[in-house]
Amino acid sequence: MDIAFGIVTCSDTRSLEEDAAGLALEKLIEGNGWTVASHVVVKDDRESIAAAIVEAADVVKADVVLTCGGTGLSLRDVTPEATQDVCERNVLGIAEAMRAYSMQKTPRAMLSRAVVMQRGSSLVINLPGSEKAARENWEAVEGQLEHAVKMTAGGGH
Ligand code: MTE
Repeated sequence: MDIAFGIVTCSDTRSLEEDAAGLALEKLIEGNGWTVASHVVVKDDRESIAAAIVEAADVVKADVVLTCGGTGLSLRDVTPEATQDVCERNVLGIAEAMRAYSMQKTPRAMLSRAVVMQRGSSLVINLPGSEKAARENWEAVEGQLEHAVKMTAGGGH
């Protein structure tokens, strides 16, 4: 089963070429035989992030939108708020699973405010911004993505 991904990296400083976490995610997606349909870098600005999520979900028609960065405690970290602005339903279990898995790697995982939500038939997953942290959070969820995408698209078990 193919899955189309949109990657939205949220960073005031990073360019697309320097987006190590986003590029690592591209490789991980392709390693599963899935498709990277879009990859953009936007500033840590709530409206810009929300617009990029909408673009990836509604125009690119990504099954899964991975945001990367902006989930921490600094005042510029607004990715969870932007996600909530444009998504309907909270998928608590995936965010809980990412934090539980990540707590085995570092207690700093508790500093992530990441949310996972649905916008229509797209699943939006907040990942942290460092390459190491993005990889570890990906590890926590990748095995359940096919089923999650099927269910989000309206399928049954
Ligand atoms: N999760 C994992 N698996 N590994 C990590 O190293 N870093 C944490 C946390 N989650 C980390 C992690 C840290 S230090 C922060 S500040 C938060 O993610 C938020 O990161 P962000 O602001 O880059 O989104």
